[in-house]
Formats: sequence, structure tokens, C-alpha cells
Amino acid sequence: MSHSTDTSLGQKVSALLTTRTLGRPLHYVHTVTSTNTIAMEAAQLDAPHGTSFLADYQTNGYGRRGRLWQAAEGQNLTFSIVLHLPISGTITGMVPLAAALAVSEAIAKTVPPNNPQLKWPNDILLEGRKVCGILLQSLGAQVNPIVLGIGLNVNQSTFPPELSDSATSLLLVTGQHVDRASMMASVLLHLEKTLGLLSTDPALVRKRYTKNLMGVGDNCQITGVNEKIIGTLIGIEESGALILETSKGLRTIYAGDVSLDMADN
Ligand code: BTN
Repeated sequence: MSHSTDTSLGQKVSALLTTRTLGRPLHYVHTVTSTNTIAMEAAQLDAPHGTSFLADYQTNGYGRRGRLWQAAEGQNLTFSIVLHLPISGTITGMVPLAAALAVSEAIAKTVPPNNPQLKWPNDILLEGRKVCGILLQSLGAQVNPIVLGIGLNVNQSTFPPELSDSATSLLLVTGQHVDRASMMASVLLHLEKTLGLLSTDPALVRKRYTKNLMGVGDNCQITGVNEKIIGTLIGIEESGALILETSKGLRTIYAGDVSLDMADN
């Protein structure tokens, strides 16, 4: 980890925070391998709920299924939060979805008339392109602690060729520079509220998530599991699993990538 003397982004976020627990404390580093890696190390050392790590640049940012997460230096938000949530059982599967809902609701405030869409389980898209990726990790079989990593493309104006068709940023969608510190403070507040709601009213979280879920009623294909599953996307169940209507009846999907563009399948 390389510590920088320029802690302005971290300081600006801290000054704007209105949360009770998330982002408290907030550790800023200019460059790090991955904020999820250092948050996992902190979680192992019993970091309290809300402890957050924010970086201006990650040399080895990663996403779901071991994919790389590439974000240009000093233009985006890459951060991770250690969570200890008062939940257990089925509802645990809703945490990634609740996180995506919360971030999308924070984004929604900066991008009207555009509306962020959710791609199961926790990608956030604007104009059909990914603007935010979310990665949850835990230490072992137990629910807590959870490390929630968020990569939000804020002011990046160009992407490497391999991402240019699939990625976007708040700047590209709104045509305007977005203040990263305010955006992060807003994301943390939305996360705190929505994760709280998951304990008290999970049905409401599911309802709000489903409202912006892409592809409901459409044909889709699930890949990344042992088999390829094709069906109509019906919605999500209490555990956050995806429900598909297939030629063999209803199927519940716990993991995989949803592909909605069936034209070339
Ligand atoms: C995905 O879309 O597959 C999830 C991407 C998650 C990226 C974020 S950036 C901050 C945190 N640190 C990482 O290395 N990954 C997450």
C-alpha cells in the first residue's frame, strides 16, 4: 500500500458524511492493490462495522469471478466497506441486491432523466452500459464480517478498447463532471439506509429492487454456472435468487451471469 500526502478526497468525503456508521472511520490511500484486499485484511483483524477504505487508484482491482476491475486514476470511486449486519438465514442472499439498489438510488439523483437499471445480481447500468460493479466477500462460511467493494465510474471519459462498448460513467451519461466526494457521501448514506431496511422490511427492498431490474418478462440466458440455462426472467425470490421460467418449469438461479441480448444465441 502506498500512502499519499494528498488525502484531499478522503478528507472531503469525511467532511460531507452524514452517516451514523458507514465510512466511520474512512481510510484513504492514493494507490493500493485493491481496496477489497485491504478491507479483507482489516476484517480479519476485527475492524468494526462501517470501517471503509477508499483509493484513487487500484493496481489490482478485481471483480466477480476473478475478473479485473480497471478504473482510471483519480477519476472514479473505488472503495470497500467492512460490514457486520444483524441478519441471518435466507435474507443474507439479499445483501448484494440491497447494495446495488442503494447505489443505484444514489446514482439516480445525479443522472435524471436517465434511470439506472439493475442487472442481477448487482451490476448497475446506464443507457445499457455498466457504470458500477459491486463485489461482496466474506471470510468464511459465516455471514459476518462482509466486505462490500464498490467500483463506480464517475468522471472517466474514455475506456480501454475491450471495455468501450460495455462501460460508461456518470460524466459520459450526464455530460457533466460529478463531484466524487459528494457522490461517495451520498452512496454511503443510501447504503446505510437500505441495509438497515433489509433487517426491518426485506419485502420493500425486494420490491424496489425488482422495479428497476432489467429484463423482467424477457428471454434471457444464464451462463457461468455448469450449464447454460435459458428462460423467461420472472423476478427474484426472498433469498435474492433469480427465478426463471424454463421449458422444464420454474428454475431458481443462485449464481451466474445474466445475458439479455438473445439475438446472437
Ligand atoms: C464486478 O463488477 O465484477 C465487481 C467489481 C467490483 C470493483 C470494486 S472497486 C473497489 C473494490 N476493490 C476491488 O478490487 N474490487 C472492488
